[in-house]
Amino acid sequence: MKLIDIKDCSKVYKNGVTGLAGLDLEIDKGEFVFIIGQTASGKSTLIKLLYREEKPTKGTVIVGGINVAKLRNSKVYKLRRKLGVVFQDFKLLPKLTVYENVAFGLETLGLKASEIKPKVLDSLERVGLKDKIRVFPSQLSGGEQQRVCIARAIVNNPRLLICDEPTGNLDPETSKEIMDVIESINRDLGTTVIMATHDKEIVNRMKKRVITIENGVKVGDKMKGSYRVHESN
Ligand SMILES: Nc1ncnc2c1ncn2[C@@H]1O[C@H](COP(=O)(O)OP(=O)(O)OP(=O)(O)O)[C@@H](O)[C@H]1O
Ligand SMILES: [Mg+2]
Repeated sequence: MKLIDIKDCSKVYKNGVTGLAGLDLEIDKGEFVFIIGQTASGKSTLIKLLYREEKPTKGTVIVGGINVAKLRNSKVYKLRRKLGVVFQDFKLLPKLTVYENVAFGLETLGLKASEIKPKVLDSLERVGLKDKIRVFPSQLSGGEQQRVCIARAIVNNPRLLICDEPTGNLDPETSKEIMDVIESINRDLGTTVIMATHDKEIVNRMKKRVITIENGVKVGDKMKGSYRVHESN
């Protein structure tokens, strides 16, 4: 079974704007996949359907055996604990330390402090931030803040890591470091990675599977692909 299986999926927002228009996509366990396409093509819409921030208006979205389109609000947690999400803006809690930010989700899942600690430390070690556990997000650089977000996303050892423009606010050198971390998670832990990006350099350097979206449909799907987007504006 595919980890992700999307069939004929459309999303029309309440205001009538089309986000996706009949998209098909299958992704296997362990894959590393870039989602590219010009602005407003539907990349973030696709990402939001995967973690059930939005529901499709048509079609099916299966993630880790869960039919996301039919998932009730009260069961969304079952999906969310299988995946981690990283965004462009870091969305860290400013009043919590690095440690507390990463531990937060595990606390809400009801884990004991003794179970939480090794997971948080492992995860911060993987992103290279074990020496910053007691500082607050405002005391970190942008790249470091994004590392905390990645640690938070992988702390419960999810099967899927979803990233929406994770390097969008970072300079090229820092972006490369962040991509090295994400690639190591895919390689060492076998975590499936799906990443929407505008970053041509990253896509061309990494030679991963590249899905191209245009006007809410898939127009390209290439193994070891490169950044080719039809820019109409
Ligand atoms: N919550 C929403 N309500 C209404 N329309 C929306 C909403 N979110 C997105 N859209 C519209 O859906 C279309 C696809 O948007 P989406 O955010 O998926 O694009 P994107 O490919 O991620 O673009 P970008 O590269 O700029 O991030 C756009 O026309 C956008 O205006
Ligand atoms: Mg987007």
